[in-house]
Amino acid sequence: KKDQWIMGIETSCDETAVAIIKNGREMAANVVASQIESHKRFGGVVPEIASRHHVEQITIVLEEALNQAGITYSDLSAIAVTEGPGLVGALLIGVNAAKAIAFAHGIPLVGVHHIAGHIYANRLVAEMKFPLLSLVVSGGHTELVYMEEHGHFEVIGETRDDAAGEAYDKVARTLSLPYPGGPHIDRLAHEGEPSINLPRAWLEEGSYDFSFSGLKSAVINTVHNAEQRGEKIVPEDLAASFQQSVIDVLVTKTGRAMDEYKVKQLLLAGGVAANKGLRAALEDKFANNPGIELIIPPLSLCTDNAAMIAAAGSILFEKGIHSGLDLNANPGLDI
Ligand code: KG4
Ligand code: ZN
Repeated sequence: KKDQWIMGIETSCDETAVAIIKNGREMAANVVASQIESHKRFGGVVPEIASRHHVEQITIVLEEALNQAGITYSDLSAIAVTEGPGLVGALLIGVNAAKAIAFAHGIPLVGVHHIAGHIYANRLVAEMKFPLLSLVVSGGHTELVYMEEHGHFEVIGETRDDAAGEAYDKVARTLSLPYPGGPHIDRLAHEGEPSINLPRAWLEEGSYDFSFSGLKSAVINTVHNAEQRGEKIVPEDLAASFQQSVIDVLVTKTGRAMDEYKVKQLLLAGGVAANKGLRAALEDKFANNPGIELIIPPLSLCTDNAAMIAAAGSILFEKGIHSGLDLNANPGLDI
């Protein structure tokens, strides 16, 4: 049987990424060109700058991925690309590159939802077993996604305001830490004690939704009040307290959903899945849960990458779900 080679392209935010996956699960190439240095001084991603960098980088990253895998475009079975959600100008660079390659080489095109990609990063780690639950925590999303089969996503809970990663980045900014702040808060949290009392938004009984804006505001108020009184807060303790609040809510709601939906697997996904405290808490709570397998991808597959897009694309391709050459970037795409 002929090998299946799927190329993935991801340009939804500030990483220009191309990867090649062999036979659905084997990583043959994984190239990520990060733009973080260019956005840092603005304290966040500047859409126009992101688009310009994607234009500059995309051909270089494509070439490098083909070199890493040791194949040419004519070997590809399909080309998968993030069609949304994300920054429209950034998405368009990837979508147009994918369309050009698909058209020039007569390769099937597969549009992939960015969050489906994050979830399918787990397929590069372990075989997916259904029904499963995925906790998706990124800069733009915080969702509990229930899956009964491949390609079928049911959002059973989501954030009503800030995403978890967004809250991390805003809290980091309040503490004058560089963008993206998640990893910095994570590091500080491990050096501090969760001694400061901060709220936890449980919402209505039984709800799987999340809310992090109240917590974020509480952190900002704590810092401002201390400043006004001329007191010093210990950033490590504030980071530890904030992180503990986020983790308590994420882990508790995930645990309840796992029980209610009687899932076989829990998959962690998204940039905040790189958080050491969250990984440890999930392992502590669920790793020895009989009958439920906990899957946590390596750090490089948690933050934005194209291997996850190729992994998701491979499944859609096998199901015969292809896109036409009229595929367009869709910044508000629903999963
Ligand atoms: O999935 P991702 O790379 O991009 C989006 O699709 O949004 O997630 C980026 C987010 C940022 O908010 C970043 O601060 C956060 O993931 N992040 C972390 C950690 N590493 C990245 N948050 C907490 N702890 C970390 N170690
Ligand atoms: Zn992402």
